[in-house]
Amino acid sequence: MCGIFGIVTDKEQTLGPILIEAARRLTYRGYDSVGAATLNGKSIDLRKDTGRVDEVARQYNFAEMTGSRGIVQLRWATFGEPSQVNAQPHLDSDGDLVGAHNGNVVNNFELRQEFMAEGLTIRSQNDGESCVHAVERYVNKGYDFLDAIRLAYGDLQGDYAFVIGKVDDDRLYAIKKGSGLVVGLGVGFTCLSSDLPSILPLTRQIVRIQDGEIITLWADRVELRSVKDGKVIRREPEIVTESMDAVQKGGYPHFMLKEMHEQSQVAREVLHMLAGSHELQGVIEKMRTARNLYFIGCGTSYHACLSGAVAFAQIAGRVAIPVLAPQFLPQYLPAVNHEDVGVFVSQSGETKDVLNALQAAEARGMTAYGLANVIGSTLTKATVCSLPLCCGYEISVPATKTFTNQVVTFLYLAYRLAEKDTAELDRIPDLMDETLKMVASQVAVIATEINQWNDMYCLGYGGTYPMALEGALKIKEITYTHCEGMLSTEFKHGPLSAVTDKFPILFIVPPDDVPLILSGINEVTCRGGRAIAIGEEDSRLRANASELIVLPKATPQISALLAVLPLQMLSYHISVMRGFDPDFPRNLSKTLTVD
Ligand code: AGP
Repeated sequence: MCGIFGIVTDKEQTLGPILIEAARRLTYRGYDSVGAATLNGKSIDLRKDTGRVDEVARQYNFAEMTGSRGIVQLRWATFGEPSQVNAQPHLDSDGDLVGAHNGNVVNNFELRQEFMAEGLTIRSQNDGESCVHAVERYVNKGYDFLDAIRLAYGDLQGDYAFVIGKVDDDRLYAIKKGSGLVVGLGVGFTCLSSDLPSILPLTRQIVRIQDGEIITLWADRVELRSVKDGKVIRREPEIVTESMDAVQKGGYPHFMLKEMHEQSQVAREVLHMLAGSHELQGVIEKMRTARNLYFIGCGTSYHACLSGAVAFAQIAGRVAIPVLAPQFLPQYLPAVNHEDVGVFVSQSGETKDVLNALQAAEARGMTAYGLANVIGSTLTKATVCSLPLCCGYEISVPATKTFTNQVVTFLYLAYRLAEKDTAELDRIPDLMDETLKMVASQVAVIATEINQWNDMYCLGYGGTYPMALEGALKIKEITYTHCEGMLSTEFKHGPLSAVTDKFPILFIVPPDDVPLILSGINEVTCRGGRAIAIGEEDSRLRANASELIVLPKATPQISALLAVLPLQMLSYHISVMRGFDPDFPRNLSKTLTVD
């Protein structure tokens, strides 16, 4: 997830150290490139490259940068590989405007074509550059600068926050649409940032910006206006009293909890991104005509592959083979050829097991696509096309938001393959928020009640089977409890013997398969076990299960996706109750670059 910071001061001075420190305080968001620009009324000094903040700042001597205004940006690649030219900030054609953004402009491709046709100078593939040109085109047509920014807002589709300055001016300007933006008010300066950590060391007096607002910053004041009608908006500043650690976690006690609550927003972003993607139709056609279609991953990403395979078969009637990456080599590689297509799924894009399978599959001529969160990772470079997960940095070792966006992406691909209207999927973000609200207190109570158990099962069927595996993995990963994920109908073929009084078993019930799951539930409850059902409101489940965690009504595939949220939450609560740190479970690493 990119981060932006901008500052306007009342005199020309050395701004480099302030910009470096602001950038350091946004690094928790994840990034691959760093750039800074200062403006002094006559010229713009722009320095940027790929690499860590301290390395790039040292190499380009950011510390000596002077001006009365400054911008710094950390880039997390989505449009265009990590490179110096794609790093932000960006200049306009003449070099007298400079700007940077955070987020994704999903019509970047179309805009770039328009800008080129209009004779503007395009230097990169990055959508941050499109934000600058979107303003430039209206300045060239004679619009006042503020109006040019308002008109640009109408052209830039997606979720982003954007800051821009012009050389012969004493202000910075920003707009917000979907991504975070906060303004800080100090003595002799004002500033803005994607997030509070870079503002709080300078001032604790802040104004939170809302979507659809345009902000002008002078050194001694800020002005908020509505993009829609240009009217001034009055908002009193607030004083932030939280600690820096709490602020970095967005007020949540752990990154995992914060990332779980980010799931709806990143789902919205990936849906926007997919809707605007130009590469997607080609990928879909290739999948349609492939001889065999493989979905390949490890751990949580493998569970997304399983879920994708269910969605492809149920929605598009297309068989896909989900496979654990290391098993791909002995089982399928000998049969692979150039008519096959593989989707290699990995949050990090660096998992060695996945890269081994990818290398071997490509050597046999397979067309390999990637589904990764870290753009610029080995996986994204090695595949013909890689779709971004748009989750920003996922800090906690247990994958949450990257899993749900993998599932959302597979659902979107299945809908497109089936030539089905994807509008239904736009409900997912709101349904996720609703689910978290509906289940929160009940899951916390259940966690307290089953916390004493070190053995449990999580069962699913059809579309909920991958979610059962994922829920069980989350419980194992951060509570150190044995929890086995299984197909619910398999339970009676052996594990049923483990059931004793109050033994906890989670049943994730697909809305269309209630009668079948009821048998499994009764086999458990009649032996004294505790059957915790997760599913839509249903009197049969109420009457037969020990309790029901209710999900909002949705299609079977979306309902399955929603069911993973209470399981993530359950694992989180048990982990915390046991005194573990869910963000950093023992013995595990976020990126597994070993065999
Ligand atoms: C999930 O919570 C785990 N951290 C783990 O299973 C992970 O999904 C697996 O190691 C694969 O990682 P990747 O998605 O980065 O390839």
